[in-house]
Amino acid sequence: MKNKFLLLFMLVASIALLSACKNREQAPKEKAMEGKPEAAVPKESPPQAEPSQIPKGDAVRGSAKYAQICATCHGETGRGDGPGGITLKPKPRNLRDASYMSARSDEHLFKVIDKGGPSVGKSVFMPPWGGSLSDQDIRDIIAFIREGLCKCTYTGNESKAPY
Ligand code: HEC
Repeated sequence: MKNKFLLLFMLVASIALLSACKNREQAPKEKAMEGKPEAAVPKESPPQAEPSQIPKGDAVRGSAKYAQICATCHGETGRGDGPGGITLKPKPRNLRDASYMSARSDEHLFKVIDKGGPSVGKSVFMPPWGGSLSDQDIRDIIAFIREGLCKCTYTGNESKAPY
């Protein structure tokens, strides 16, 4: 009877010893990973968006300007369904479409609002607003589009923009 307990004890002890050895074996590997965090990052990381060069505008001010000027065509909620756009072809852009808008940089949005559709190869029915809006107004509207309509930021790779 006593021997049995001794045997059991030795079994448990050797298992404990074995697993302790295993842990020690792994330890140096983990150590080696320390200080090399890039080893854990996959090599093919997705393209990073260039940070916007356009200073951030005020979305609240932008919202008021948007309602005054843009909503007639783009719609009060930005879906491109305003009364002024019904007969237009192509239709005013749905500014809530996050997959489209996140593939458009702030620089691109600034240009199309400032200089109109044709400046970026789009319809002449998207008018240029640079004459009546200040740069700050345009930045405010971009902030409103980003924060209030598409709820998106530029995620990079404008050349791969959908449609
Ligand atoms: C007279 C109608 C009209 C008004 C007013 C108007 N837009 Fe547009 N907008 C359009 C049309 C039409 C298009 C689609 C152009 C195309 O896809 O070729 C467009 C496209 C756009 C686009 C997408 C550009 C792109 O690269 O696809 C943005 C952004 C935009 N408008 C913002 C605005 C803002 C901001 C205002 C207010 C300052 C405004 N628009 C006022 C008709 C209008």
